[in-house]
Amino acid sequence: MPITLNHVSYTYAPGTAYATGALNDVSLTISDGEFVGIMGKTGCGKSTLIQLIAGLLTPTSGTVEVDGRDINSPSYDRSLLRRRVGVVFQHPEHQLFETTVERDVAFGLKHLGLSKEEKQQAVRQALEAVGFEYETVKNQSPLSFSGGEKRRFAIAGVLAVKPGILILDEPIAGLDPLGRQSFLALLDRLHEAGTTILMISHNADAIAEHAQRVVVLEQGSLLMDGEAGQVLSENTFLKEHGIGVGQAAQIAALLEAKGIAMEPGTVRYDDLLRQMIAIGRRLQQ
Ligand SMILES: Nc1ncnc2c1ncn2[C@@H]1O[C@H](COP(=O)(O)OP(=O)(O)O)[C@@H](O)[C@H]1O
Ligand SMILES: [Mg+2]
Repeated sequence: MPITLNHVSYTYAPGTAYATGALNDVSLTISDGEFVGIMGKTGCGKSTLIQLIAGLLTPTSGTVEVDGRDINSPSYDRSLLRRRVGVVFQHPEHQLFETTVERDVAFGLKHLGLSKEEKQQAVRQALEAVGFEYETVKNQSPLSFSGGEKRRFAIAGVLAVKPGILILDEPIAGLDPLGRQSFLALLDRLHEAGTTILMISHNADAIAEHAQRVVVLEQGSLLMDGEAGQVLSENTFLKEHGIGVGQAAQIAALLEAKGIAMEPGTVRYDDLLRQMIAIGRRLQQ
């Protein structure tokens, strides 16, 4: 079990006039190799949740375990966590500060005891994974690239460490459709290679197409947790709670309302298309 939260609560600035309860008694287990989408309205606690998993915040109460160990216990070796869990924060492109792309992507490899060749190899692979040619970009300043390209460098820096668990906070927000597509394809490849992925996103279609499981938070508590098709087809419930509904799920619901029976949990375009083709064929007969 790579990640287990046991009754985790978190309050910012506890005991002050500004105390904000951000998470309230959240229990959650994420298994090896899962691709989990995390949704919920702004301020519901998504970013707090992932910072707790990454060990950047310590629960006010409850425990966070990674690979069966309490990451906040004094005897826990934090360097394990840094290798195991990679976090891509919101707007990671704002965190580039080294003079060359190579140095920036290699930043997280410091103190891992790698040789110069091993580091170079890790940087090369990470840059190639996000679609750059190592030799072309390695000596350039990251600041001379576009926003989308900078974001890919920042992500390469996280991938270079080869984390088994990858957590991403709204990674596709603000990317153009092509950038979004190639980025999500990269996540699929990492997932197929065995990486556990947690992705926060408001984009219900992206989550429907790529995640297997969806966790929805509301005001610091778990509102829903289940298989992606099951959660994302609850259109009425999701809308009532201010959560975006995907296009494919809406089309499926519109067809249902016209008396055309759709398979339960239709939230993906390929599923929708397959059923519409079958319906079309039946009509032609
Ligand atoms: N550094 C902080 N100090 C005080 N309150 C915070 C801080 N960060 C977040 N909060 C509050 O905690 C709650 C959860 O925030 P957050 O986890 O960022 O939600 P989300 O990522 O879902 O938008 C919100 O009420 C937010 O205002
Ligand atoms: Mg957030």
